[in-house]
Amino acid sequence: MNRSAQQKSSAHVTTRRLLDMKQNGEKISMLTAYDYTMARILDRAGLDVILVGDSASNVFSGHSTTLPITIEEMIYHAKAVVKGVHDESGRAMVVVDMPFMSYQISGDEALRNAGKIMKEHGCDALKLEGGMIIADTVKRITDVGIPVMGHLGLMPQSIYKYGSYRVRAQEEREAEQLLEDARILEESGAFAIVLEKIPSALAAEATRSLTIPTIGIGAGVACDGQVLVINDILGLNREFHPRFVRQYADLNTVIEGAVRQYVEDVRQTSFPSPDESY
Ligand code: KIV
Repeated sequence: MNRSAQQKSSAHVTTRRLLDMKQNGEKISMLTAYDYTMARILDRAGLDVILVGDSASNVFSGHSTTLPITIEEMIYHAKAVVKGVHDESGRAMVVVDMPFMSYQISGDEALRNAGKIMKEHGCDALKLEGGMIIADTVKRITDVGIPVMGHLGLMPQSIYKYGSYRVRAQEEREAEQLLEDARILEESGAFAIVLEKIPSALAAEATRSLTIPTIGIGAGVACDGQVLVINDILGLNREFHPRFVRQYADLNTVIEGAVRQYVEDVRQTSFPSPDESY
């Protein structure tokens, strides 16, 4: 589907549609993608939202945190994903993570970078980590017409502050702060909030108290939607098996097996056959 066809498609998932889904009790499905081919598959499969996550820093580039990824790298991934969705049914909403330090320095800089990311690849929305501390920035970005998805709980861009990836907001003070941050994000114009690795009861309370949808990752079933990293559900990473991931395939084994067979076939000269030659 080309750009103009996609613009006309009434099936394309919008912020309004996500709000309706919450109100109607329809769950929102979201996964990450970082390239054209995967985006086409996810869109074809009927996924509601594709997140071009800064987890690309981990699963695509091999860094140990999300901090090193740059705006240019996020734009590169986002362009490929947006093109994949446009060339398929064009239904999925594409949300792009603003990378570490692209929105924290000042409101002006955040606005400039948000505009740059939106203009250069034509995605639908941006995602920022943080609560009260980024509320003014969220307001400035949404005021110019750019939809913002919030992200609370475990915020991987702050991993050096936490010192671990353990469950967040288990103590009352942090839980109360999270509820307050969620309320402020909604008030500042956010259209949805990702809740990462927090107790299910707290996520349920946040979901009840907000009019905008919550999308959980390790936050229980009461959230209005769920998000996971595509590499994790496909079993592409042998070393990473947190409790909140459900693995739907074992592509690591499938791919390794296919490549072993290919290596063997080349060595044995059983590939290419006459039928595979000119
Ligand atoms: O970058 C990412 O993949 C994310 C999800 C874990 C929500 O932010």
